[in-house]
Parts: sequence; C-alpha cells; structure tokens
Amino acid sequence: MACLCAAAAPAAAQTTGMDLAKARNCMGCHQVDRKRVGPAFTVIAQRFAGSQGARDYLAGVIRGGSRGSWGPVPMPAQTQVSESEAQQLAAWVLSLAQASDDGAPAATAK
Ligand code: HEC
Repeated sequence: MACLCAAAAPAAAQTTGMDLAKARNCMGCHQVDRKRVGPAFTVIAQRFAGSQGARDYLAGVIRGGSRGSWGPVPMPAQTQVSESEAQQLAAWVLSLAQASDDGAPAATAK
C-alpha cells in the first residue's frame, strides 16, 4: 500500500533501505528482526501495517525522535536524516511487515 514514488525520485535513493539505515546509523540502535536499543524494524512494521498515514508518521518520528511508544528508552531526533531519506526509511521499515507476516494480529497503532 505504501507508495514508493516519492522515495524513488532522487538519484541518491538508488541505495536500498538497509544501506540507508546503515549509513544513517539506525543500525546502531535497531536490528531488522531483533530488539536492540530500539524495537525491531519488523515489529514496528507489524504495529503500523495497514494504518493510514503510517509512512508520514514514521518519517516524522525518524527525524523528530520518539519517546514512550515502546518502552522507557527514547529515540533521539535523527537530524542527519533528510526529509526524503526519512520517507524512504519509513517506507522500507513498513515494507518489512510483509516479509515477516506470520498472521499475528498487529497491535493497534494508537
Ligand atoms: C540512539 C538509539 C537510536 C537510533 C540511533 C535510532 N533509533 Fe529508532 N528508536 C530507538 C528507540 C529507543 C525507539 C523506541 C522509542 C519509543 O519508545 O518511543 C525507537 C523507535 C523507532 C521507530 C518507531 C517509532 C514509533 O513511534 O513507533 C522507528 C520507525 C525508528 N525508531 C526508526 C529509526 C531509524 C530509521 C533510524 C535511523 C535514522 C533510527 N530509528 C535510529 C532508538 C534509536
């Protein structure tokens, strides 16, 4: 459902989501399928799967930080990430829900 059109536009967006996540230090705190400092990206994807506006919401969180959604540890604002990179990362995270869809009901987003 996530439209990748905006994320695909700039030439720099040739990198995959994973490459970008590594380059922007996301993987210092996150892993794809296991909890590290922050929640696993697949688990985040499950929570937001199918929810309206999830990509914009997560893009905002990536740049602005998050606290209290997943536990006591806050995520600092990632100011090194541009708006279009944040959209690309958000789309990539959301795409991971399909990869690990085991039929478990996604927790309610709100
Ligand atoms: C310093 C450690 C740290 C770094 C670096 C970090 N995160 Fe996080 N991230 C966290 C923590 C901790 C949480 C859970 C915050 C909470 O409970 O609200 C989180 C939550 C998230 C969420 C879910 C937000 C929500 O509201 O549900 C997303 C998406 C996310 N991170 C993506 C990223 C991306 C993409 C990057 C790289 C640009 C990144 N993170 C870098 C620690 C980090």
